[in-house]
Amino acid sequence: MKSKITVVGAGNVGASVAQRLAERGYADIVLVDIVEGMPQGKALDILESGPVLGFDSNVTGSNTYEATANSDVVVITAGIARKPGMSRDDLLLTNQKIVGGVTQEIAKHSPNAIIIVVSNPLDAMAQMAYHVSKFPKNRVMGMAGVLDTARFRTFIAQELKVSVDDVQAYVLGGHGDTMVPLVRYTTVGGIPVSDLIAKERLDKIVQRARDGGAEIVALLKTGSAYYAPSAAVAQMVDAIILDQKRILPCSAYLEGEYGVKGAFVGVPVKLGKNGIEEIIKIKLMPDEQAALDKSAKSVEELIGVMNIR
Ligand code: NAI
Ligand code: 2OP
Repeated sequence: MKSKITVVGAGNVGASVAQRLAERGYADIVLVDIVEGMPQGKALDILESGPVLGFDSNVTGSNTYEATANSDVVVITAGIARKPGMSRDDLLLTNQKIVGGVTQEIAKHSPNAIIIVVSNPLDAMAQMAYHVSKFPKNRVMGMAGVLDTARFRTFIAQELKVSVDDVQAYVLGGHGDTMVPLVRYTTVGGIPVSDLIAKERLDKIVQRARDGGAEIVALLKTGSAYYAPSAAVAQMVDAIILDQKRILPCSAYLEGEYGVKGAFVGVPVKLGKNGIEEIIKIKLMPDEQAALDKSAKSVEELIGVMNIR
């Protein structure tokens, strides 16, 4: 039997996620949005690409949640996106309400689902979904690390004129200005990146990765990135639906790991059919731990503003 995936929010990220997942062929997709006709129209459009591309996933759109019942995975992209000059944190209170309402419906109609939150500010919204759904911690996570790492890998590959396939990297921490690209764990064909790129240049690449979201917002002017974000979500969904046991950086609920208690922060995890099956603990140097502490603190500040702990 095919799996069932719901994508809430049929805007730029949600519609792209639905398209990428439909093309995988392993699941039927339900696209939900509050705008009348829009998720139905986008779903039908994606469905009609099936005969050309050769997939049989059913894709439907809806303004309510009945059609989403018993989804295996739910991706939440509902909310407002950044405009130039806005930080992800500026979205907090508006998206808190939206993500809270959406999560209530998801928990009611798909009590066994695994939730992947995309809406920003990411780690705080994952915390909100966890708080409202009351799902076990392995079934709620946020997408950010895969995207931030992909940006970092792109810039390193560009710098060295090598295949992105040969660049391995990790970006940890919250999905914000304090995210922590781990240079020490970044390799190119197995060679530490610091042996290949001078420190000054590497510092600039690290900063560009941190500012990766803002760079796209400044260019687009009317919204934020969605091609790379939707690819990152699809990689996480693959790992869950296909039980791949991938090790990927995801925003996960921490209970003391990495010194963080009771908050969502980006760390490496093992992703499989049960969602987050393990938090992978890597040994951090004091400066890396300090950067992660700072990042976790900024997430905790947002959680404080939401008043949900
Ligand atoms: P968008 O504006 O294109 O789409 C958002 C959609 O959500 C709209 O169609 C809107 O009608 C819908 N929506 C609003 N309230 C809703 C509700 N209560 N129920 C269902 N749908 C609702 O925005 P885009 O570009 O798709 O971004 C979506 C969110 O994802 C934003 O918060 C953005 O900041 C975030 N984002 C996060 C990334 C990450 O790395 N975690 C990467 C890219 C975007
Ligand atoms: C990004 O990093 C806006 O969070 C979004 O592109």
